[in-house]
Amino acid sequence: YEFDLVIRGGTVVTAADTVRAEVGIRAGRIVSVGEKLGAGAKEIDASGLLVMPGGIDSHVHLAQPSSGGPKMADGFESGTRSAIAGGNTTVLPFALQPRGAGLRASVMEYHREADGNALADYGFHLIISDPTPSVLGQELPSLVDEGYSSFKVFMTYDDLVLTDRQLLEVFESARTCGALVMVHCEGYDAIRFMTERLERAGKTAPYYHGVSRPQSVEREATHRAISHAELTDVPIMVVHVSGREPMEQVRWAQHKGLRILAETCTQYVALTADDLKGLNMDDSGGKYVCSPPPRDKDSWEAIWEGIRTGVFQTFSSDHCPYYFEGSEGKNSDKARTSFRWVPNGIPGVEVRMPILYSKGVVEGRITVNEFVALTSTNHARIYGLYPQKGSIAPGFDADIVLWDPNRKETIRQEIMHHGSDYTPYEGMTVTGWPVMTLLRGKVMMQDGRVTGEPGDGAFLRRGRSPYAIAQANCP
Ligand code: URP
Ligand code: ZN
Ligand code: ZN
Ligand code: ZN
Repeated sequence: YEFDLVIRGGTVVTAADTVRAEVGIRAGRIVSVGEKLGAGAKEIDASGLLVMPGGIDSHVHLAQPSSGGPKMADGFESGTRSAIAGGNTTVLPFALQPRGAGLRASVMEYHREADGNALADYGFHLIISDPTPSVLGQELPSLVDEGYSSFKVFMTYDDLVLTDRQLLEVFESARTCGALVMVHCEGYDAIRFMTERLERAGKTAPYYHGVSRPQSVEREATHRAISHAELTDVPIMVVHVSGREPMEQVRWAQHKGLRILAETCTQYVALTADDLKGLNMDDSGGKYVCSPPPRDKDSWEAIWEGIRTGVFQTFSSDHCPYYFEGSEGKNSDKARTSFRWVPNGIPGVEVRMPILYSKGVVEGRITVNEFVALTSTNHARIYGLYPQKGSIAPGFDADIVLWDPNRKETIRQEIMHHGSDYTPYEGMTVTGWPVMTLLRGKVMMQDGRVTGEPGDGAFLRRGRSPYAIAQANCP
C-alpha cells in the first residue's frame, strides 16, 4: 500500500482553504493531500463530512489542586477522553507552581499525572505564583528551552496573585527568555472589597459571584496588564476575555500598535450572569460559577465582534471541571454558605467546538475557515506547535476531526465523557458535531465511542512562540 490510511470523499477545511480532496497518511503524518491518491491499508469514507485539523484547546485545567482544596473532576485520563470525544487532539493544561515550591518540581508532578494516562497529545503552560530570583533567573529559562514555552500569571486569587512589581519583573524575564505570558486579568483588591461588602449584606448566593467581579474589575486589570506589557516591551496573551469592556481594552491596545493577543471562551457566548441565579436564586447557580463570570447578551455581541475582527486569535474552553454534588463540590455545605467558597471553573472541553461551530458557522457569524483558525491553527501558531499541529498539509501530524456539519445534537450530561457530574450547557441544541477523531492517524473516537487508550497521547515539547521570539530579538 502507498498509505497506511486514506480519507476519501470529504471536504478538507483549513484556516486558509476549503477543498474537495483526499488525505494520505503514513506513519502518523499527513504525506499527501490531493486527488486520486493510491490505496491505503485502511480507507475511511468521509462523504458529506468536513475533514478538519483536530481541535487544539490551549486553555484547560486537569488534575490541578485549587485553593481550599476541592478536587478537580478530571485528571489526565478523563479530561483528555472528553477532549477527544469533542474533536480535539491536543490540549495545553497548566502546571501550577504552589508558593514556596520550585517550577521544575511542579512540572514533574504534572508529568507524573499525565505521562501514560493521556488520550490526547499535551503540553504544559507553567503557572508562576512565586517569582523568586532563581525561578525567573534559572528555572524559567531552562524550562522554556525544554518546551514549556508559555506561562500564566494571575492578578487575583489569594494564593496566586502577583503584585504589580512582580508582574513587571516576570514580564521582563519572559522577554529575555522568549516565553509567552498569559495573564488572568481581574483586580484582586476590588474583588475582595466587593466580596466582603456583599457578604455583610447577606448576599451570598452564587449569583453574587458575578456581582463581586463586574466587567469594570476585569477592564481595569486588562488595562493594567497591557500598560505593564508596554512598559516592558513584551507581548502578552490576555486569556478568557469575558465581555465588551475588556475586549475594548485589548482592541485599543492592538490599534495603538502593541502586540497584545487575546483569547475568549465558550461560556462568554453561551452563558449569562442570569444563569448564576439558578432556579430562583437557589444554589444550582453554582454550576455556572467561573472567573471571569459570564456577562450579558450585549457582551455576547461584543465577543462576536472581537472574534470577527481579529481581536481574538483563540477560542478555548477554560475547561476547569468540578463536581456539583458531594463534599468537594460546588454545592457542598461550605460552598452553600457563600459564593466565595464555590470552586471557580466549569467543564467544557468536549463542547467547545460544537458550540462555536453552531453559533459561529451555522448562524453565519464566522466562516468555517475562521472556525479552524480559532479552534486549532492559531493555538498551534501562538504556542509553538506549528508546523507540527494545526493544519492539514504534508508534514503535519495526522490529527484530524471528521465533522458532520448537519448533525443536530442536544448537549446533555449523559453523553459527556468528562468527570464532572453535570454540564453547564445542559439542554443546548447545536448543529455540527464531531463523528471521528484521529490522533497521529489512529482512530480515537468514532460515533461518540472513544476507541483510544490512555497513553496514546504524547507529551509535546513546544518551540518558542513566534510572537515572543520577535520581541526577544528586538534591540
Ligand atoms: O473559573 C475559572 N476559569 N477557573 C479556572 C482558573 C482560571 O483562572 O483560568
Ligand atoms: Zn484564569
Ligand atoms: Zn481592529
Ligand atoms: Zn483557566
